[in-house]
Amino acid sequence: STSIDLAVIPGDGIGPEVVTEAVKILKAVASQTDLELKLTEYTLGAEHWLRTGETLPEETLAAIRQHDAILFGAVGAAPGDTRIPSGLIERELLLKLRFSLDHYVNLRPSKLYPGVSSPLAAPGVVDFVVVREGTEGPYVGNGGALRVGTGEEIATEVSVNTAFGVQRVVRDAFRRAAQSERKKLTYVHKHNVLVYSGHLWKRTVEAIAAEYPEVAVDYLHVDAATIFLVTDPARFDVIVTDNLFGDILTDLAAAISGGIGLAASGNLNMDRSAPSMFEPVHGSAPDIAGQQKADPSAAILSAALLLDHLGQPELAARIETAVEADIAGRASLGQRTTAQIGDAVLARLG
Ligand code: NAD
Ligand code: IPM
Ligand code: MN
Repeated sequence: STSIDLAVIPGDGIGPEVVTEAVKILKAVASQTDLELKLTEYTLGAEHWLRTGETLPEETLAAIRQHDAILFGAVGAAPGDTRIPSGLIERELLLKLRFSLDHYVNLRPSKLYPGVSSPLAAPGVVDFVVVREGTEGPYVGNGGALRVGTGEEIATEVSVNTAFGVQRVVRDAFRRAAQSERKKLTYVHKHNVLVYSGHLWKRTVEAIAAEYPEVAVDYLHVDAATIFLVTDPARFDVIVTDNLFGDILTDLAAAISGGIGLAASGNLNMDRSAPSMFEPVHGSAPDIAGQQKADPSAAILSAALLLDHLGQPELAARIETAVEADIAGRASLGQRTTAQIGDAVLARLG
């Protein structure tokens, strides 16, 4: 029998609520097969920091590193919470995990499932994946501020892009496009303005494109990409872009394809030198936390991505099919609790 050893980081707000449901589903599929599932929970996040002053201690990171994969809920305080410096947990826990574990492919699929309403009147067939770079860009904390709090303050936030980092993520996106039915890759940047990083991305895409003649390559400036995501999302197959553009585009992608409650993601270390991490695209949603109002589908679909990454595509498909069936039937149902949605998916696992 196969065994999977998971680290589980429920986090803050709705994180623990949606992770409870994802774990429920993982345990169910494991019990249906000969999969042995071992789960170790790590208490981390804004609440943990308030209690202990810890974000991600080195020994905790070392322990997390030993697992096969990580299931992550969400972290972060409410925007108005003055007890926690803004961004502290996001940077020192979430981004630290992505950077330390070399999650260079942030995979964010967008699929408009049958029965889901989109805010777009005629969205067409929406089924694309964003390959967002996960370890570089403006996220690396390379900046500073001078004369803080004065009228002469200067703040910089320098985007770091390396040939190594851009090549590996672009190569991954080409591989995915080559395996897809439509074989189309759209790379998104802003090389009309961001000439240094933009041109590195441009040259990298052009060089790797030569190795994949079967893949049709298209380029969009990021501002235009937001237009087409709304007016013609069906044109996209694989999108590759940098860390910040990818963050923004994937919330938009979620909004057009059923909402943030359905958007799953994987932070992938494709070299498998460290565990990959799977999490919903959404955050801790302080506005609905603790009320059983969160949709756990994004977390459950993230668990499916996890199984797929760990070489269990049939189990992943079983979960996705169950979620898809639940989604298809939900229009006629009223408001359900987080646990009721989890139970309904569980019942459809067959
Ligand atoms: P958010 O994603 O938490 O919430 C945005 C809106 O979407 C809210 O109205 C929320 O109620 C709704 N929403 C989110 N998930 C939902 C779900 N599963 N079901 C139904 N509705 C859902 O984004 P935000 O408000 O910008 O951020 C809140 C906190 O979360 C901040 O501290 C932020 O830094 C953090 N954050 C963390 C992550 C992460 O851990 N990966 C991601 C994004 C934001
Ligand atoms: C996401 C989140 C994070 C990001 C934040 C919380 C650091 O918005 O996972 O999309 O910007 O990557
Ligand atoms: Mn985001």
